[in-house]
Order: sequence, then C-alpha cells, then structure tokens
Amino acid sequence: MKPRRVEDRQDHYYWKARKEGYRSRAAFKLKQMNRKFGLIKKDYWVLDLGASPGGWSQVAVELGARVVAVDLSPMDGIDGVYFIQGDLTSPETWDKIREVRGRFDAVICDASPKITGNWDIDHFRSVELVEYAFKIARLFLKRGGNFVVKMFQGEETPRLYSEFKKFFVFKKLHTPPASRKRSSEVYFIGKGFGGKFKPERDEP
Ligand SMILES: C[S@@+](CC[C@H](N)C(=O)[O-])C[C@H]1O[C@@H](n2cnc3c(N)ncnc32)[C@H](O)[C@@H]1O
Repeated sequence: MKPRRVEDRQDHYYWKARKEGYRSRAAFKLKQMNRKFGLIKKDYWVLDLGASPGGWSQVAVELGARVVAVDLSPMDGIDGVYFIQGDLTSPETWDKIREVRGRFDAVICDASPKITGNWDIDHFRSVELVEYAFKIARLFLKRGGNFVVKMFQGEETPRLYSEFKKFFVFKKLHTPPASRKRSSEVYFIGKGFGGKFKPERDEP
C-alpha cells in the first residue's frame, strides 16, 4: 500500500493497516462492525463482493471463515479465499459463485463505483451496486444468515433501506468509526435473513 493521496499520509487507519499487514484501511471498518454486530463467526462461509485488494477477506479469514471473493479487479491470493474476477451485476458471475458454493452464512459487500466527488452521481452509481448485492444476498444467503452492504447516501437510501429491512430480523444503518469523516458512506447491517417473514426467494 503506497500513500495515494495527501490525506492517506495523515490518516491513522491507513498507517495502522500498513503496520498490521492489511491490504486496505477498509479492513478496520469490517473489524469494527463485526465487533459490534457479530456478523462473521468461525467456520462461516462468507461471500465478499467488491473484495479487492482484499482487506475484508483477510479479516474474514482471521475470524475463521472460508471466503469466496468477487471483484472486477484482480486480487492477490489469500489462503482460505477463492477469488472470482468478475462483475457482481452479471449472471455469469453468479454462476461462477454457484459452482464454488450455493449457500453462505454471510454476504458482505464493500463494492464502490469509481468516486467522482459529486455526491449525487456517486449515490446513484452506488444504488445499482446495492440493488445487485441485495439480489445476490437473496440468491445465496442461508436462512438466518447475515448481510452487510455499503451505500453512498442520498435520496434513494430510505427506499432501499425499507426494502432491505423486510428481509432481516435485526437491521441497522451504521457508519463505523474507521469511515472517513467526509465520506457519505453508510452500511446496511442485516442479521437473521428470512427470520420472521419467510420472504419469497430465488433458489440458487
Ligand atoms: C472500496 S474497494 C473494496 C475494498 C475491500 N473491501 C478491501 O477491504 O480491500 C471497492 C471495490 O469494488 C469493486 N467493484 C466496483 N464495482 C464492481 C462490480 N460491478 N463488480 C465487482 N466489483 C466491483 C472495485 O473494483 C473495488 O475493488
């Protein structure tokens, strides 16, 4: 990890990630959310969407999970992680996931569109990714499974969150301390997929 931006040079989590051998400062967001919400446990199968360079996958493996990771960009290997290079919005990628595993205990998605700095554009681009992440969660999550997905906030956030809430027993909108202060990102946290409502779901 080289400092790409001036703010990286001044960023506590950037240097902490370098020191502790994580591939991204994002690793600390998952660590913090997992400490608070218990999303990933030992022996879980985790589907990591938008996984490169691999910080979240590293954390999931440390927690004792086996991971299937997906990203448009390549990712260096990690023991315990099966990597698929592909677009999470493409049914071909879903077929590739299914070839490795049909059901997961947790689906985690930190996928981001290329950031423009314009909050509206970034929001609308992230809406599409969040909708696909929901679709994938409905395809692959076990009953009772856990889900976390990042969104850049905007006018569609309440609509997506109320859709999301129907599927989980426990649900929360959360911004971990490691998120950058000027970022508009928020994470949808869901635990207990299909709990009370027995939602319609697609079979893998
Ligand atoms: C913030 S990074 C993820 C960082 C990762 N969680 C970590 O800890 O290292 C966002 C990733 O989303 C990926 N991405 C964006 N759109 C995608 C798509 N349609 N399909 C798959 N990956 C996508 C990008 O290539 C990028 O690697």
